[in-house]
Amino acid sequence: MHFLPLLTATTTVLALDIFPRQASPQKLTVNPSQKFQTIDGFGFSEAFQRAYNILGLEEAKRTKLIDLLFNTTTGAGFSILRNGIGSSPNSTKDWMNTILPKGPASPKEKPEYVWDKNDTGQLWVSQQAVKYGVKTFYANAWAAPGFMKTNGRDSHGGTLCGLPGTNCMTGDWRQAYADYLVQYIKFYHESGVDVTHLGFVNEPDYARAYFPVAPCLHPWYDSTSHLSHLITYPPTRCPIATDLTFLRAPYASMTATGAQAADFIRILHPTLRAANLSHVHITCCEATGWNVQANLTHDLRLEGVEHLLGVITSHPYTHDIDGSLPTTLPVWQTEYSDLVSGWSTAWYTTGRLGDGYTWANKLHYALTSGNVTAYLWWLATQDKETNNHNNEKLILVDKGEYYVSKRFWAFAQYSRTIRPGAVRIWIEGGNGLKTTAFVNADGSTVVNVINTQAEAVAFEVQGVKGTSANAWVTDESNDMTAVGTTVGADGSVGGINVPGRGLISLVIKPLAA
Ligand SMILES: *[C@@H]1O[C@H](CO)[C@@H](O)[C@H](O)[C@H]1NC(C)=O
Ligand SMILES: *[C@@H]1O[C@H](CO)[C@@H](O)[C@H](O)[C@H]1NC(C)=O
Ligand SMILES: *[C@@H]1O[C@H](CO)[C@@H](O)[C@H](O)[C@H]1NC(C)=O
Ligand SMILES: *[C@@H]1O[C@H](CO)[C@@H](O)[C@H](O)[C@H]1NC(C)=O
Ligand SMILES: *[C@@H]1O[C@H](CO)[C@@H](O)[C@H](O)[C@H]1NC(C)=O
Ligand SMILES: *[C@@H]1O[C@H](CO)[C@@H](O)[C@H](O)[C@H]1NC(C)=O
Repeated sequence: MHFLPLLTATTTVLALDIFPRQASPQKLTVNPSQKFQTIDGFGFSEAFQRAYNILGLEEAKRTKLIDLLFNTTTGAGFSILRNGIGSSPNSTKDWMNTILPKGPASPKEKPEYVWDKNDTGQLWVSQQAVKYGVKTFYANAWAAPGFMKTNGRDSHGGTLCGLPGTNCMTGDWRQAYADYLVQYIKFYHESGVDVTHLGFVNEPDYARAYFPVAPCLHPWYDSTSHLSHLITYPPTRCPIATDLTFLRAPYASMTATGAQAADFIRILHPTLRAANLSHVHITCCEATGWNVQANLTHDLRLEGVEHLLGVITSHPYTHDIDGSLPTTLPVWQTEYSDLVSGWSTAWYTTGRLGDGYTWANKLHYALTSGNVTAYLWWLATQDKETNNHNNEKLILVDKGEYYVSKRFWAFAQYSRTIRPGAVRIWIEGGNGLKTTAFVNADGSTVVNVINTQAEAVAFEVQGVKGTSANAWVTDESNDMTAVGTTVGADGSVGGINVPGRGLISLVIKPLAA
């Protein structure tokens, strides 16, 4: 440990006393015998053609960026990729094209699937992820193709024909949709990527939500742009809501209640089994807010389909994580980002939504109070033009260059150290520190510490028997910079300072068995 040499009594000392140094390091104690959830991983999406941002870079930079995303020693080591299963007739604008562009005349007619071995760039990104050892591929349809839906188009809400409450002239498309999702998984398998998780809907509550009077007080979509996602407009920029159904979700979207989702799950589950894909976990339901997903989860349980599902998924846009969801299944936070503010690469500016520090805190809260087993950012990359150059991306790609935000490094600190299969364990101690601890499958202990105070804090970790420990720090001036530690004769780990508002992650190697 490096303490400042003792100073003699001068006015300088009085000034320093405003932020007194810790006389001795704070003690954090882990208890590996008290276990919580098992982690599936951390991830992002490159849906809606964002994958082309990476694909379009010149070769050396492209590899560097892929390395940054997936490398487990130098990058974020992201372990989950959420791909969008296209439903659009073609890939105009930022649409994701479907594998069934020509709708059969009836659900019984043999479908003519088309595999372009591209999937709007997502296949290539997935194949790179495979090279880095990524094993969790989440294929998620925002909607069924238009000809399977009540509104005849893949966008603007509508419902899958055949679900309770629908009555389509074209018939019942539920089995055809299940077969179609299975076919997408088969195409990916042929191309060297094994889909492990399957979602059949995205934000099913969104396009059907009722707007009382002032739509602009709600998250709202820009009717003029397919590129926009959830955006809360200031009143002065409120679009004139003449046709709410048209304005709502003008991109691949589909509505479903809990009962409707359950109805489809009862068809999708045996369809996967019949295709020898029973290892693929069905997810539900990607609600816009944690409270909506709590209700949907309750409904799925009432319908008796919880055991057919692998994972409960939700977005926290309209209602952030405020506790665990009512299920014994793993829970994934599958899409979140700062959609509101302009592009920022800052770590800490008094706790704004775009700050890296804010996302460290969100990750911490989701892992502890939210009991999540996975936490996914929305888009890894985006250009300047889209959505007024906002913060929904971790990395800006512009004119052949890329720029990394501190939000990325907040994710990297957790994602690189807490590997899939890690079990969260008890940790206590530390004033003004937010701590989490995990035991990885390889036996290493991970400790993540957020310092909520402005001044640096020294701490040591007890309750572990380490032989060596690596540590990394992110704050305003560090991007997961390696820092030194000391390991005591008893295996405790010390010699660590977490800077004010900083985030430190430790990986402690155990004694050989
Ligand atoms: C793409 O599909 C849309 C909707 O069907 C259609 O209006 C448009 O002409 C198509 N574009 C191309 C390039 O095929
Ligand atoms: C995928 O399609 C895009 C757009 O047409 C093209 O630029 C890209 O080269 C294709 N990528 C692959 C791997 O086929
Ligand atoms: C990850 O980065 C390290 C250090 O640069 C490198 O040795 C390793 O090959 C990279 N891993 C992959 C899968 O490329
Ligand atoms: C599933 O696996 C079984 C046993 O290996 C095999 O007989 C059957 O043909 C497979 N079915 C499909 C649809 O691949
Ligand atoms: C959840 O369900 C309860 C009970 O039906 C209802 O009062 C509440 O408004 C619902 N919340 C949301 C966000 O849908
Ligand atoms: C936390 O999630 C796990 C599954 O990952 C579940 O078994 C457990 O019951 C959940 N705990 C709470 C408090 O919700």
